[in-house]
Amino acid sequence: MTEQSLGSARPFRIAVFASGQGSNFQTLIDSSREGTLGAEIVLLVCNKPEAPVVERARRAGVDCFVFERKSYSRREDYEAEIAEELARRGVDLIVLAGYMLLLTPVLVEAYQGRMINIHPSLLPSFPGKDAIGQAWEYGVKLTGVTVHLVDGGMDTGPVIAQKAVEIDPEDTIETLEEKIHSAERDLYPQVVNWFADGKVRIEGRSITIS
Ligand code: GRF
Repeated sequence: MTEQSLGSARPFRIAVFASGQGSNFQTLIDSSREGTLGAEIVLLVCNKPEAPVVERARRAGVDCFVFERKSYSRREDYEAEIAEELARRGVDLIVLAGYMLLLTPVLVEAYQGRMINIHPSLLPSFPGKDAIGQAWEYGVKLTGVTVHLVDGGMDTGPVIAQKAVEIDPEDTIETLEEKIHSAERDLYPQVVNWFADGKVRIEGRSITIS
């Protein structure tokens, strides 16, 4: 019997890039364990050796590429090393989850249409840092979460999916943060599965799921 007939088709492979807590990384790990993620997490890339996400990866048995920005004079140099690690593992999709370094064309061009980011607001409102705090301070009644393709700009790539979160009168910044993170937990694995299932059609800024 061939491998093919045993149903052992090559799994869709993702690498997660993160710099901090790693709650989105953990959601993907948990979804994978529960059998609801149609992708294998083959690498964590992290620029902070002491970040909690690194410990989460070690506990889950996921390979890590951990580096420090200050060890390199140019961003292109560590990105070239990352690109080698990705190529070695045949990574199909890069999943940014709180990765706090700007990317260069080394990775952005090599993974055009194959790199996604999650941002805690309804883009194009509140791009950049502390999007939840920005929305809170502005006093909007509706905010949410956006998953988008990564281009060369800061949170400017084409939108793949959004989930709205209402800000109620009884909310505090803390309860809003929890609602946003809960929306992230719902949305990110679903979008990864769309890619794994070949459902994402990209035409310029127009993205459709079929
Ligand atoms: C998330 O809110 C995500 O939307 C943003 O960075 C945060 C990362 O949180 N891009 P975590 O490290 O996944 O807990």
